[in-house]
Amino acid sequence: MCGIVGYCGPRATPEVLLQGLKRLEYRGYDSAGVCVAHHGKLQVVKRVGKLRELTLALDHSLPGSYGIGHTRWATHGGITETNAHPHLDRTGKIALVHNGIIENYETLRARLENKGYRFQSETDTEVIVQLISDFYQGDLEDAVRQTLSLLKGTYGLAILHADHPDIIIAARNGSPLVIGVGEGEMFLGSDVAAMVAYTRQVIYMEDGDIAVIDRQGYRLTNSFDRKVDKKIETISYQLEEIEKGAYPHFMLKEIHEQVHSIPRAYQGRIDHENATAKLGGLNMKSQQLLHIDRVKIIAAGTSWHAGMVGAYLLESLARIPAQVELSSEVRYRNPIIEKNCLYFAVSQSGETADTLFAMRELQRKGATVLGIVNAVGSTIARESNGGVYIHSGPEIAVASTKAFTSQVTVFYLLALMFARLRHLSWPEGKKFIAELESVPGKLSLALEQEAHIQALAKKYAAYKDFLFLGRGINFPVALEGALKLKEISYIHAEGFSAAEIKHGPIALINPETPSLFLVPNDSLRDKVVSNINEVKGRGGPVIAVCEDGDTEVMRLADDVITVPSVSEFFTPLVMVVPLQLFSYYCALELGRDVDQPRNLAKSVTVE
Ligand code: AGP
Repeated sequence: MCGIVGYCGPRATPEVLLQGLKRLEYRGYDSAGVCVAHHGKLQVVKRVGKLRELTLALDHSLPGSYGIGHTRWATHGGITETNAHPHLDRTGKIALVHNGIIENYETLRARLENKGYRFQSETDTEVIVQLISDFYQGDLEDAVRQTLSLLKGTYGLAILHADHPDIIIAARNGSPLVIGVGEGEMFLGSDVAAMVAYTRQVIYMEDGDIAVIDRQGYRLTNSFDRKVDKKIETISYQLEEIEKGAYPHFMLKEIHEQVHSIPRAYQGRIDHENATAKLGGLNMKSQQLLHIDRVKIIAAGTSWHAGMVGAYLLESLARIPAQVELSSEVRYRNPIIEKNCLYFAVSQSGETADTLFAMRELQRKGATVLGIVNAVGSTIARESNGGVYIHSGPEIAVASTKAFTSQVTVFYLLALMFARLRHLSWPEGKKFIAELESVPGKLSLALEQEAHIQALAKKYAAYKDFLFLGRGINFPVALEGALKLKEISYIHAEGFSAAEIKHGPIALINPETPSLFLVPNDSLRDKVVSNINEVKGRGGPVIAVCEDGDTEVMRLADDVITVPSVSEFFTPLVMVVPLQLFSYYCALELGRDVDQPRNLAKSVTVE
């Protein structure tokens, strides 16, 4: 998704802007640009491709005292330098960057063209800056406010004017913006990663907010021009958490981090004395939770897969009816809100438009929606009726790994809490907690297969199609493995319930289509072994992820990845790690941009 940065202060503005954009690269982009302002002059430089093109093109000697920058993930208009941001108005004195989609831009553009305006780009963004120019009579904030009143759609905006030195105006509606508070300097960014190197004091803007920022501070008002007071919050993570450290890619770092991020999701939330979980953020007392008859989960992508595991746990362990739905489907389906039904919105970024708008629709109809979110202060986290942060730390790689296992870990806590409310005995709760707390050690063992998995990736990376198959609680893990492979290696991969292969997909089996089976030693193992035989019998290569010592599966499969034995409920956490590593090394083998795969964004803040 697009990234926005802004700065006013004594530092070299070009460097601050470029550093900020670099921290936002993980969001995914295809072009970038900056506008550096100084003594009534604007230097605008834009380039297609990666930031290094922009860095080479920028005149770093230009002192600059304030500026804005942008990484663009194309929505309206092709990937060209002209369409890249910042966009200038007709006078060349106003510069603007935008994240979001303006739905009525064509009408507004026609209105301006009738007044003689000529447009350089195909973007919806250029309409905004030309509108501001049309309203501008010397009061920049007023011109921005008048423009915003005409816009339909979503925006995060940063605007500056050559004749208003050291002022940046920011406006937010649907696309996140954060103000960073420094000493005699101020920062703006799409997320805190853009400023954490300079300040840890931030203000999260809300929809409708307009900020006028200068070196000394900021003034925040809402769309009715009423002053808005917001508390300054402190960024919860350290700079090194958003650096690769000794790892070649963020994705590999985050795969290995799971040994530590999973405990962070449950630490301080387990009540060992009463053998249950304590989740204060739910804002619900036991008496209220006891009356919950049904749980519904909304999410997208990997978070949807985590929600599927969560629904399985809530039904199997807590005996609560639970369903998962794609956020994008819920929003426009006029959902029926049942009494005593509790919703969870699962989102790593907390900014996914599909999930955010679905949550708002459910809340509008009277539903209670709790968030299971990673990004602190994100929109879903702030607008939900409470929830649980997963504390996996910033996830930079576009392909989600540690967030998935931390989301699933939160569902273990929820399932335990509900189960102990309803039927689970104290000894059973103690046993469950002991098994959960043993998972990080088991994950370390699973990671020891890394070199072997890398060798398998070398062997299989040339194949064009893969099937991923799992059953029960590992059916969502098969879906997640297929998503990981396709999104970073670009190899076509599909996930199925292993039993489902007989109902069509088996027609795909051939020597050129490997099937990757998840075969934990659980209640469905023998059924999955039968499915493996069905594939082998038709000449399909089989890779099996099975538990150490399963000699039958080792004999049957062409290649095997072993994982340590865990009880059935916890198999997703160990089974997913080999799939993450396999997709990572296949992508590496194919020379892919592992952390920023083509066409993808880390946080999809548009519908
Ligand atoms: C997962 O690897 C992808 N990056 C994508 O499917 C992602 O899970 C999805 O866009 C949802 O993002 P969220 O968790 O931030 O809402």
